[in-house]
Amino acid sequence: MSVCHKRRRFKMQGIYKGDCLEIMKGLQTQSIDMIYLDPPFFTNKKHRLSSRDRISHYSFDDLWESHKTYAEFMQLRLMEAKRVLKNTGSIFIHCDKSANHILRFVGEDVFGAENFLSEIIWSYKRWSNSSNYLTPNHQNILYFSKTEEYKFNKIYTEYSETTNIDQILQKRSRDAYGKAIYAREADGRIMSSDEKKGVPLADVWEIPFLNPKAKERTGYPTQKPILLLDKIIEISTSEGDIVLDPFCGSGTTLVSAKIKGRNYIGIDISQEAVDLTKSRLETLIKTESALLNKGRSSYINVEEKSLAILSGLDILAVQRNAGIDALLKRNYLSKPVPIRVQRENETILEAATKLSVAAIKKGAGIAFLVATNQTKDLLDFRFENCMIKIINSPALEINAIFDEKWTNSR
Ligand SMILES: C[S@@+](CC[C@H](N)C(=O)[O-])C[C@H]1O[C@@H](n2cnc3c(N)ncnc32)[C@H](O)[C@@H]1O
Repeated sequence: MSVCHKRRRFKMQGIYKGDCLEIMKGLQTQSIDMIYLDPPFFTNKKHRLSSRDRISHYSFDDLWESHKTYAEFMQLRLMEAKRVLKNTGSIFIHCDKSANHILRFVGEDVFGAENFLSEIIWSYKRWSNSSNYLTPNHQNILYFSKTEEYKFNKIYTEYSETTNIDQILQKRSRDAYGKAIYAREADGRIMSSDEKKGVPLADVWEIPFLNPKAKERTGYPTQKPILLLDKIIEISTSEGDIVLDPFCGSGTTLVSAKIKGRNYIGIDISQEAVDLTKSRLETLIKTESALLNKGRSSYINVEEKSLAILSGLDILAVQRNAGIDALLKRNYLSKPVPIRVQRENETILEAATKLSVAAIKKGAGIAFLVATNQTKDLLDFRFENCMIKIINSPALEINAIFDEKWTNSR
């Protein structure tokens, strides 16, 4: 399918360079199923970044005279976006705290407050020590439909760890007073509920920020993760639908659309962005998230038993380190102080070796090993410049006292 515009003719799949306002004018009315746009955020910065090999340098301007000029710029483009959207279509406007209020206002003006569906919070963990305000760990995506006939594919997620699944799988009914009670069979047994698919997707999405080493990272400033776009595309489109990104940048939306079997149109005012998008579409690279695939709990390797033994100490538990369970919050001679609890299946020498390797890597001068299953008096170890001090766990200490008294009194 292609469209004839008085100035240009645009195919219903492709990447175009230019102001999205002009390019969208060349698209047919009611031809697009979903629009995702990640426009300049009203940061009043010039965004610059380079690819990992430092060969390509990318930049775009996000500089505005006033709120008013930004709002007018966005209003014109959202009106054109509305025209090209099908009646069953929806639009996702990505922003952050800088322009959230402006875009919500302009969005409601263009699409109608009644068609505002959700504010999606994309949440992630990012560290920052420098700020004297709360570290921003989320961005906002305003989700509007064009009409009430919009397409929406329900997605289900896992129940939380605190949900009582057993209870959920039991059918409910109401008693004579309207109170919810368990439905029962004639013989008094509790009836099972219909099959449960999980929890319908909520509006807070935890998706990791692209880390500097992520394979899909291109070096384009403000590049979004494909996993975020995957979710948007999944809830709002079907295979073969047409997805439009009028501010496509490095082309993340188009890569996700292609992987998911959707058609795509990308527009960007920068030639580098258009070239980068084309090359990403030729070689599709997507980074999976180990955090999302394996779950947050898979990163917790410090055993509960070890932490219980260390409770009362002012420590930070150390995950993802086979040699150290915790670090004391206070340093000793300006160096960190690691601690490990001996495991049931470990000799004290094995535990001390693991601790010393990890402690030396951290530059520690002293580390503590809590012995849990060896009763003889134990000597401290010295490995290179690190002293491993052995202390008994309370259980071991008490048992040793009893054993000694028991032996002496016989
Ligand atoms: C926030 S970035 C998009 C990043 C993109 N979502 C990604 O994952 O790489 C915004 C983009 O809008 C482009 N842009 C700015 N003004 C534009 C306009 N009037 N028409 C089309 N693109 C524009 C910039 O060149 C920039 O690439």
